[in-house]
Amino acid sequence: MSTAAVVGNAGGCDFVVQAGGRLQGRIRVPGDKSISHRALLLGAMAHGESHISNFLESQDCLATLNALRLLGVRASPGQARDVHLRGAGPENLHASARTLDCGNSGTSMRLLSGVLAGQPFATTLDGDASLRRRPMQRVIEPLTQMGARFESTDGHAPLTVHGRRPLTARRHELPVASAQVKSAIMLAGLQASGETWLREPAPSRDHTERMLQTFGCRVLRDGPWLGVRGGSELQAADITVPGDLSSAAFFLIGAAICPGTRVVVESVGINPTREGVLRLLRRMGAEIHLQNPRELGAEPAADIEVQGGHLHGIEIAAADVPLAIDELPALMVAAALAQGRTTLRGAAELRVKESDRLAAMAAGLRSLGVPVESFDDGLQLTGVGEFKGGEIDSCGDHRIAMSFAMAALRAAKPLRIRNCRNVDTSFPGFAAVARSTGLDLRVEETA
Ligand code: S3P
Repeated sequence: MSTAAVVGNAGGCDFVVQAGGRLQGRIRVPGDKSISHRALLLGAMAHGESHISNFLESQDCLATLNALRLLGVRASPGQARDVHLRGAGPENLHASARTLDCGNSGTSMRLLSGVLAGQPFATTLDGDASLRRRPMQRVIEPLTQMGARFESTDGHAPLTVHGRRPLTARRHELPVASAQVKSAIMLAGLQASGETWLREPAPSRDHTERMLQTFGCRVLRDGPWLGVRGGSELQAADITVPGDLSSAAFFLIGAAICPGTRVVVESVGINPTREGVLRLLRRMGAEIHLQNPRELGAEPAADIEVQGGHLHGIEIAAADVPLAIDELPALMVAAALAQGRTTLRGAAELRVKESDRLAAMAAGLRSLGVPVESFDDGLQLTGVGEFKGGEIDSCGDHRIAMSFAMAALRAAKPLRIRNCRNVDTSFPGFAAVARSTGLDLRVEETA
């Protein structure tokens, strides 16, 4: 596994996707991004050797792995998707002389902030232009209340975390439902004196809670409150990472929008706090079947079958959003082909992802001939029978790029999607998997 090329990809690339075609076949997608990050971080904080199978070897997860190496964690990739990590407890991390480069990865920066808040040294975290624009105040505030000190540029990276040992345990009421903020607080809470509790306005993905138990740490619950006890020792664990539902979603949606197609994505995580995309697609009329349901460690998984058919527009409300947050761009492609109107509200969080995803989707869909109305917190669009072709700007956002690649299946002319290099942040090998299912996609290197 190369660790040199984690950040700052050299040249760019475009996707050129021929119009039409249909997806067909049984595929697998790489391991879950959220779970891969957490396996590295908890393995680093645990005592003993942890083993991660089906690790997602993407730019984002490699940024976390590199950062942990700089903090003194020994990690030996056997094969690329098979990582052995030797942790010695949070008290044995050491200062890094170098800045930790998180690249494009908000999860790396926010979760590492939680770990570093409890360390008796200062660490600087930085990232690419997109990450420097994303709000970090949401982790700075609670971690500062626990005793860490942050230097930032107006709540943005680069961040310097001046950790404190031990941190002070507190109760936190989170203003936004964010698994990244929740996880940062829990990782800090493990290094606090006493019990740290938090409450979210709505449930977000619960991979950290599940995985903490696998590492032998009890997660405390009291109604809507969630807590960890400072000083709890984590014991090394073996984690098998399920396929990433967020990556599978592109193919599930690609199949759903083409009547007569059938795609099965094997061994995908179907955690109830992640599977909003399946519920929303079903509400739009898609036919989805779960086969071979099983448990992969603490996470439910299944093979997911989708048959293409006729979709209709739906209302997507604030309560639906956290459980489908990363799949909403691809869902907007499906909505733009569905009969009638789709309204998405309560999704202002999409404006502070790797790009302003509401703006990027509105611009791309409009250029494909879709009537779109924008709101501060959402979009309203009316389905069309077919997309026009042409050029789309992915805004350097992996999920925008992959969403529009699927749009080509129902376009009249080819699509050129600009600036797709960051697809490697979450889904290395996307182009090959797409081609294997029948999408006529070419990657064109650009300067
Ligand atoms: C993630 C949580 C989500 C999601 C991101 C990964 C995680 O972000 O959008 O891709 O792994 O915790 P927020 O927690 O900020 O909503």
